[in-house]
Amino acid sequence: MEIENKVFVITGAAQGLGKTFAQDLAARNARLALVDVNKEALEQVVDTCSKSDIEARSYQVNVADESEVEALFNQVSKDFGTVDVLINNAGITRDGLIARIKDGEIRKMSLANWQAVIDVNLTGSFLCGREFFVKLLEQKKSGVCINISSISRSGNQGQSNYTATKAGVAEMTVTWAKEMARHGIRVGAIAPGYINTEMVAAIREDVKQKIIEQIPTRRLGDPSEISHSVFYILENDYFTGRIIECDGGLRI
Ligand code: CAA
Repeated sequence: MEIENKVFVITGAAQGLGKTFAQDLAARNARLALVDVNKEALEQVVDTCSKSDIEARSYQVNVADESEVEALFNQVSKDFGTVDVLINNAGITRDGLIARIKDGEIRKMSLANWQAVIDVNLTGSFLCGREFFVKLLEQKKSGVCINISSISRSGNQGQSNYTATKAGVAEMTVTWAKEMARHGIRVGAIAPGYINTEMVAAIREDVKQKIIEQIPTRRLGDPSEISHSVFYILENDYFTGRIIECDGGLRI
């Protein structure tokens, strides 16, 4: 797929990988519908992207809310006239061991922290993917959906909730690719390793250092290295139903 002038919906675009995708796609003359719950930070990303003389708009939406997501895709189609690509990127962490005992006291992952991550990462990806496909089917056109999974999908200490969602996102990718291929729609995913974003910066310093020591490249990834994987999926018309692992060689 050619990137220039295509309409991209990017969720979680106010920070982290989503923000980098927006800026890198703006530089390639894409048209951007940027989605996040954090309106203020999102407006700043829109301002930066608009400097590239491209059309960028902000949408304050909770991806876990069905009616908000339905309204989002209706509004984007109205504002831009069409939609071509979804980058299903919005995600949160609420890390904690499933159960632990410290100084004789039991601590466990709360149901609220389980549910919050399931709602945004898994239900949010499902709802955005579904509404994106509905729009493409209505308009009888092809398109590309890129899901952001994670190296954590294989099972990561402290991430029962996040791991469950990222494994779910990876396998939904395969399902959607099979279902949508007949309509000329491709679905791919990226499983980034530890990338230099706010999410990784939030890990306790001693734990983060331990993790970096295990990465064969001995460094965090740069967000632009994940944009590179986005471009690969967009530009390779034979790529669907598969997951690019971009993680510096780390296995967890
Ligand atoms: N890798 C290696 N060791 C880890 C680890 C990890 N991912 N997570 C925890 N540990 C180790 C700790 O160093 C500690 O080891 P010792 O007992 O030898 O000291 C042990 O497991 C228990 O952990 P804590 O003492 O830290 O327990 P805690 O209850 O205070 O904190 C925690 C638990 C909040 C999960 C904390 O360990 C932590 O933040 N771990 C990192 C989890 C992680 O990797 N999150 C990724 C966030 S970024 C992201 O999610 C993006 C992405 O897609 C990769």
